[in-house]
Amino acid sequence: MEFSIKSGSPEKQRSACVVVGIFEPRKLTLAAELLDNAARNHLSDIIRRGDMEGKAGSTLLLHNVPGTLCDRVLLVGLGKEKEFGDKEYGDAIRCAVRTLNETGAFDGTVFLTETSVRKRSGAWRVRQASIAAQETVYRFDQFKSKKDKVRRPLRKLTFVVDRRNELSAAEEALNQGQAIADGMSLAKDLANLPGNVCTPSYLAEAAQKMAAEHKIDCQILEREEMATLGMHSLLSVAKGSRQAPKLIVLQYKGGKADDRPIVLVGKGITFDSGGISLKPAPDMDEMKYDMCGAASVLGTLKAAALLKLPLNLTVLVPTAENMPGGGASRPGDIVTSMSGQTIEILNTDAEGRLILCDALTYAARFDPDTVIDVATLTGACVIALGHVATGLFANNDTLARELVHAGDEAHDRAWQMPLWDDYQELLKSPFADMANVGGRWGGSITAACFLARFTRKYIWAHLDIAGTAWKSGTDKGATGRPVPLLMHFLLKRAGKLT
Ligand code: BES
Ligand code: MN
Ligand code: ZN
Repeated sequence: MEFSIKSGSPEKQRSACVVVGIFEPRKLTLAAELLDNAARNHLSDIIRRGDMEGKAGSTLLLHNVPGTLCDRVLLVGLGKEKEFGDKEYGDAIRCAVRTLNETGAFDGTVFLTETSVRKRSGAWRVRQASIAAQETVYRFDQFKSKKDKVRRPLRKLTFVVDRRNELSAAEEALNQGQAIADGMSLAKDLANLPGNVCTPSYLAEAAQKMAAEHKIDCQILEREEMATLGMHSLLSVAKGSRQAPKLIVLQYKGGKADDRPIVLVGKGITFDSGGISLKPAPDMDEMKYDMCGAASVLGTLKAAALLKLPLNLTVLVPTAENMPGGGASRPGDIVTSMSGQTIEILNTDAEGRLILCDALTYAARFDPDTVIDVATLTGACVIALGHVATGLFANNDTLARELVHAGDEAHDRAWQMPLWDDYQELLKSPFADMANVGGRWGGSITAACFLARFTRKYIWAHLDIAGTAWKSGTDKGATGRPVPLLMHFLLKRAGKLT
């Protein structure tokens, strides 16, 4: 879809559809009022008759509105003005785009971006609108032999800003929104692919392809090189699978040569059967999403490269398939990680931390400014935070605050959880330096505490996206989270967010 920005009045738009908001109960937004004046109360008459209360999620499509130059007017209910916040704004945009896509209009001029949202700037509204619009039209139908084609799909959206002097800031915000949405699409596409297609080798090839398109340096470490480096924890996870593990290393150099990089590490388990500690059958298909951390850091890198952010960014993706083959790790096996610390594998289903710990040790080579790992790490995180917030753990409170704030700005929120040493004793093993599981209680915390033992040399945060990376049920699919959070963090670091 094509996007553009303009300023102007709604009655003068030569467009297939002009979109304006109505607050509940029956309160016209400024743009709706301008249309109504030009149309000699046509809108207010309809609203008085009771056809549009302004309830959130409601729409009313009007044709031949007098006094206007557009083919149609779409009224979108915004709910109560007092309650109109980040979520309500996003919902309104999604509702408008869904409806536009279903009507015959090829293009729409959206005035919802003029409506003020508490604490948010015009640039914020445009950035969020372009992300929400692209999210709404996203489809994953490459395996459907008959695709449900939209009869007359929406091709062009124009977002309106109230003043001409906002145009350049809005253009930049639109650009950022489109790059973020592109990054999310890549993340969703990779994540939605089935495990028999998206293997570690497939992920490595996808990374190489993306790197080649954006002048990013890409290196793939194979099993032998990882063995030489001593990554026996990572390698142990792949032993039950026919698929070879990989460590994908990408370096984007948009900053000065001596700027220390931000390192993003993404968990890339392309299918998590649990291994010998086999998972139960119900919903096991969803474990194809166990590479969503990997997909999100690749998507973030793509978005950062599209925007040519003046930063150095390194992306590490340890990737493997966790299967119960004859060579698989057994409960009780002890492995030596690259750090030299030994690990007793009490549960082969706690495999994410086993691949991440070696990647995190490897991250130290880049003399990082900051390291952030992203992982669908624990079911316990879903119990704690549900599907709304990502779990955030950090060994540095400034970094934690930056990430919480970035998530808030992006409406892709994270909630900080404790990483206190008091939890560390749960990882005691009688035979090795640590066990890979800490028992039933505080499972997302003990998982983070495990990772913390490998990140003492630098500033680090861990994002547990087990509850936020995909949706189950009828609208099953990857969400692209936390690409928006990470991109807002990077944009802020790059001085591109005001
Ligand atoms: N990939 C899973 C975590 C997961 C489970 C994410 C369900 C989303 C939904 C991870 O590898 C795992 O299996 N974790 C175990 C850890 C346990 C064995 C300590 C879990 O959460 O049950
Ligand atoms: Mn697992
Ligand atoms: Zn897993």
